[in-house]
Amino acid sequence: MDAVKIGLLGLGNVGSGVWKILTDNAGDIAQKVGARLEIARVLVHDPDKGRRVSVPRGLLTTDAGSVVNDPDIPIIVETIGCPGQDTQLARDYMLSALRAGKHVITANKEVLAKHGRELRGAVTRGGGLYYEGAVAGGIPVVKVFKEALAGNRVLSLMGIINGTTNYILTRMSQEGSDFEEVLRTAQSLGYAEQDPASDVDGHDAAYKLALLASIAFGHDVQVEDVFREGISRIKLEDLCYAAELGYAVKLLAIARRDDDGVELAVHPTMIPHSHPLAGVGGAFNAVFIRGDAVGDLMLYGMGAGMMPTGSAVAADCIDAAHNFIRRVSPPREVRSNHVRVKPMDETQCRYYVRVLVVDRPGVMAAIASEFGRAKVSIESLIQKGRGQDPVSVVFVTHRASERDMQDALRGIRALDVVHSIASVIRVEAE
Ligand code: NDP
Ligand code: HSE
Repeated sequence: MDAVKIGLLGLGNVGSGVWKILTDNAGDIAQKVGARLEIARVLVHDPDKGRRVSVPRGLLTTDAGSVVNDPDIPIIVETIGCPGQDTQLARDYMLSALRAGKHVITANKEVLAKHGRELRGAVTRGGGLYYEGAVAGGIPVVKVFKEALAGNRVLSLMGIINGTTNYILTRMSQEGSDFEEVLRTAQSLGYAEQDPASDVDGHDAAYKLALLASIAFGHDVQVEDVFREGISRIKLEDLCYAAELGYAVKLLAIARRDDDGVELAVHPTMIPHSHPLAGVGGAFNAVFIRGDAVGDLMLYGMGAGMMPTGSAVAADCIDAAHNFIRRVSPPREVRSNHVRVKPMDETQCRYYVRVLVVDRPGVMAAIASEFGRAKVSIESLIQKGRGQDPVSVVFVTHRASERDMQDALRGIRALDVVHSIASVIRVEAE
């Protein structure tokens, strides 16, 4: 049987998963493709490092050119990430390979979100760009949007698409664990980015949302269009109040469209326990989709880690090998630039607001009056402590616009009985 050669850039979490799957399942994969997939060379930073997979030493190289520019290697798999928190290296390797007519596979959402247009533009006849592993780890969500839902007008998608933050929020709410300690565990399990601030501050989810929304809506969504807020301000106390009120707190990525434009946001969100996304725990991801024909649909699976992500990248290798053998490119992605991205000010939802106040009579009335002045209506409020200084007071509002809410928060912050606004969490309700 003929072999199709693959050049693997990187042998960390994802690269090791790809190696293991293509090696362990080599026979079955060869049957499906009609050719053996052979990883012919592997680019690493340090060839002497201990590995989780056993790769012949002779395949390892530190010379990227010997992989990317080898004319006998038609498929390049990029899993080096962003060394030094820079996308340049991954971008350059991928561009060289694409310009040489190769099939390029990546799990790197940051490089796609920042250089996607340039990379797509560099695909030549017979080559292709594949990125199933870049969004939601093992969940085949890119394929679902591109193929299974191609006949739908997608109205909205709402997803838990960062495994690290979901793992942190789940362990905090279920076990009362400490934020920093759970983050370290997520790193040791291979879920977190090379710079975990990318997970915690919502950048990673914003890159993924830009990619998904672009495919789902057919617009060229830029990561700068996505409103972003991370989870670092969420305290255990907020998770307890949320549970008491009947909600789970999740870092949600939301894309919705209507006649006024597209809404794109990543932020911590309270969702009712009855919503299917509320039960998605640990490093699992899920994407809840609403299409005009299919109705509601949810995809669920492991969103990070060596094997789940390796699974998505291996599937891309199989697609690329099929296309290489048949000398075809994958279908072109159609994108229009004409979309109005709604400013956050125009969006509407309910809000959870926890305010730290001086505990004395009249405080509630003063805060309520600021909400009223800004036309924000209060649905419920909770005060538990007594006599502490400061004490937490929690308000849940009815639906309000972001503009009005920010106006109310400015007024509340300025009250002399208010220490600070400890947290503001948007609430999604059916
Ligand atoms: P790792 O840090 O585990 O692996 C990076 C690999 O790239 C290592 O093998 C490293 O070599 C190699 N490398 C780094 N810099 C260089 C360089 N300058 N020259 C040559 N080789 C280099 O990263 P991950 O596998 O976790 O992530 C890779 C990509 O996949 C990222 O873009 C990430 O966002 C994405 N991703 C990760 C997921 C996960 O769960 N981890 C899930 C989905 C996507 P050496 O081993 O010698 O140090
Ligand atoms: N750091 C990412 C996450 C890896 O936690 O979801 C998967 O893209």
